[in-house]
Amino acid sequence: MSRFSGKKIVVGVTGSIAAFKVAGWVSTMTKEGADVSVIMTAAGSRFVAPLTFAALSGNPVLTDMFKAEESHAISHIELGQKADLLLIAPATANTIAKLAHGIADDLLATTVLAASCPVMIAPAMNSGMFENPITQRNIRLLMDAGYTIIDPAYGQMACKTEGPGRLAEWENAEEKILQNLTTQDLTGQKILITAGPTREALDPARFLSNRSSGKMGYALARTAVRRGADVHLISGPTTLLTPYGVKKTSVVSAEEMYAQVVQACTDCTVIIKAAAVSDFRPQNTATQKVKKDDAEFVLQLEQTDDILKKLGEMKEKHNYLLVGFAAESCNLREAGEKKLKNKNLDLIAINDISNNNTGFEANTNQVTLLDSDGFTDLPLTSKEETANLILDRISAQLASAV
Ligand code: CTP
Repeated sequence: MSRFSGKKIVVGVTGSIAAFKVAGWVSTMTKEGADVSVIMTAAGSRFVAPLTFAALSGNPVLTDMFKAEESHAISHIELGQKADLLLIAPATANTIAKLAHGIADDLLATTVLAASCPVMIAPAMNSGMFENPITQRNIRLLMDAGYTIIDPAYGQMACKTEGPGRLAEWENAEEKILQNLTTQDLTGQKILITAGPTREALDPARFLSNRSSGKMGYALARTAVRRGADVHLISGPTTLLTPYGVKKTSVVSAEEMYAQVVQACTDCTVIIKAAAVSDFRPQNTATQKVKKDDAEFVLQLEQTDDILKKLGEMKEKHNYLLVGFAAESCNLREAGEKKLKNKNLDLIAINDISNNNTGFEANTNQVTLLDSDGFTDLPLTSKEETANLILDRISAQLASAV
């Protein structure tokens, strides 16, 4: 399923040079399954032609309250009432001021005033206008009325000044929009997630590690925030960007991950251990790079501490729900069952790492869940969708524990 599947979104475009960026937003949301209708103010349609938005959304663009052919298409009142979300992007200081004071003198402002769906506003303007106390007061009025503001970014404006006021980057706006469209079933939950591999140093140049990319753990963090959770991600080395709204602590070795997790676990309601922690580390780490001629060719290893097992021992005292992963290449169910029991888990996601599309580095996954209700095979799908399905099970367990 695509991120915006089945969502009806009305986008209001006002008179800012950033209107051209919103053409990209509309295109992405449409491609990801949304039914997007665009309303433009007169100033908005001077920056980007309505035809552009019509072509990108596949829907007629509404610009004028009194144009006969537009009013026949669909009533704008109805549009704002049937939508899942009304997004004004870019929102100028003028439109923000009008909306803050209930002035409904054009099609967009009238639609917003009559809307019964959530309204989000993405300001874009010169930083002087944005920082002006009048604009700030108007933004506060809109927030008090329950509108969500997508904070603008800091940077250089079209007018060559620098400061806050640039339209938010899509990556951040998208997460806020998805948050608004998602049921907030994890509100109030403090979720600790581990992700990625660990690295165990042999010398300053070399380490032992594994193929984990961190994608599954990061997908869990991103989707949990979207569903309202407060997320702390403890991550081994990866190339992934920290998901929006997630607090991240970076670690390198299993020992560092152990220390951070044990410290953070006392304060959370759910722990998900998606990290591929190294089971072994070199018995000795050379302080200088080992030279070819001095190498012994035999590596003495010792076992690392099992973090999940330790969390299982501490579970009753701190009262969190504990979820682990099992990376397996054979006898999946049997191995998962053993780990669930030995590590005192509430849920385990068993992962077949022998397939290219379900294991390390892949963008898709297929896991089997095991909890007190038995085994459930989840479908082969994106890691983000897999994350949502795992969170559905966690959410159900949390609800039944109340
Ligand atoms: N895990 C951990 N600390 C370790 C090793 C594993 O916390 N030192 C956690 C992983 O994050 C995962 C779960 O334990 O949630 C299972 O990891 P996995 O590698 O599948 O199994 P192991 O317990 O390491 O056992 P084995 O390698 O023998 O299968």
